[in-house]
Amino acid sequence: MASATTAIRGPVLTYTGDAFLEGLERTMRYESDAIVAMKDGKVTHFGAANAVRDALPPDTTVRHLGKDTLTMAGFIDCHVHYAQTQIIGAYGEQLIDWLDEYTFSAEQQFADKAHARDVARVFLKECLRAGTTTAAVFCTVHPQSVDAFFEESAALGTRMIAGKVMMDRNAPGALTDTPKKGYDETKALIGTWHGKGRHLYCVTPRFAPTSSPEQMEMAGAVWNEHPGTYLQSHVAENRGEVAWARALYPERKGYLDIYDHFGQLGKRAIYGHGIWLTEDELRRCHDTGTAIAHCPTSNFFLGSGCFNLRNAKKAGRPVRIGLGTDLGAGTSFSMLQTLNEAYKAAQLNGNPLSSGHAFYLATRGSAHSLYLEDTIGSIAPGMEADLVVLDLKSTPIIEYRMGYCNDLDDALFIQMTLGDDRAVLATYVAGQLAYTRPARHDA
Ligand code: GUN
Ligand code: ZN
Repeated sequence: MASATTAIRGPVLTYTGDAFLEGLERTMRYESDAIVAMKDGKVTHFGAANAVRDALPPDTTVRHLGKDTLTMAGFIDCHVHYAQTQIIGAYGEQLIDWLDEYTFSAEQQFADKAHARDVARVFLKECLRAGTTTAAVFCTVHPQSVDAFFEESAALGTRMIAGKVMMDRNAPGALTDTPKKGYDETKALIGTWHGKGRHLYCVTPRFAPTSSPEQMEMAGAVWNEHPGTYLQSHVAENRGEVAWARALYPERKGYLDIYDHFGQLGKRAIYGHGIWLTEDELRRCHDTGTAIAHCPTSNFFLGSGCFNLRNAKKAGRPVRIGLGTDLGAGTSFSMLQTLNEAYKAAQLNGNPLSSGHAFYLATRGSAHSLYLEDTIGSIAPGMEADLVVLDLKSTPIIEYRMGYCNDLDDALFIQMTLGDDRAVLATYVAGQLAYTRPARHDA
């Protein structure tokens, strides 16, 4: 049965193109009093309230959000590990020791589907509380960890991209598969989940050091045999990791070339981090359409380094860049907090990140990195109706600071610097209200 049209009314920000390449003036669209109407999971109308109001079906319910809110497309997290929800904020190690010490023991618990389901539920709830409506998600080596995740996501109607981790060496026996098992299980999961509802499958070799050449071959094969699926992994996150990958694959030109050799670069391939990629490697990402997920909270937390966003987007060979939390090495579900750290990473590279560019990155930019910019990440008729509504005065200090706010850029910058999950007033998934913040307590 077709649903009725519903709508929200209030200030709206969205993007119509690539803010980095085309500039903010051409791509950033702000309406101080807009209507977004939704039906059957999609946006049907968007524009200034005065212009849109008369075009709405007469029985449309309009929710008035007020001038101290800002509605955007739902945030998109391009790189995250749901199975690491239980180890966020684990002290003291850099990447490889952190994996051995905390991650691999947590991931072993996902052999138990009931545990996987419980964690998936917590994870997805936290995403919605943070205004994140789509994510590219690493599950664990266990196929049931993928089933549990997608089943929980289906209950919420979220558009999620996820896959079973493939590892056949340099990991505990309980977390390894074999080249053939990894291939067969991945193929079966693609059959079950890819394109089912809003779900998309992602072939997920964890990173080159935990896969043998035979497994890398099979991972590339299964991805290339299933057009439209995704591939995710990690590259050039930590200097020790880069040296290790190169030592394990001495015949390859560099770290990225390992993935290239095994047919794992191209459209819908997305790699976490990329901090230490060389100029040639960035060019290769550009040439192949491979995307990088910038994960600043994780990069600072693990002491991995400082991704140079401006250099990655350099004119002439811009790389598709999305934003990722990379939980549990990342320290927050909040994309606002992730932008806060992205700003600091940019500062350390000598190129501060404007708030307009930052919110592009969290929405349409991330969609673009996933080749989904025609489906999610912006607000326009025909786009899927995933929305986040921010409360621009969500805490006493933000409310106070907003009293001295000069313009939209300033308001956005205040949100990404001081805001977190408390700023998320509501989250809509496919046109349905999926999360409402409880009443504010100022104490
Ligand atoms: N590299 C390989 N596996 C992981 C992981 O789980 N987290 C991070 N941050 N990097 C990785
Ligand atoms: Zn990761």
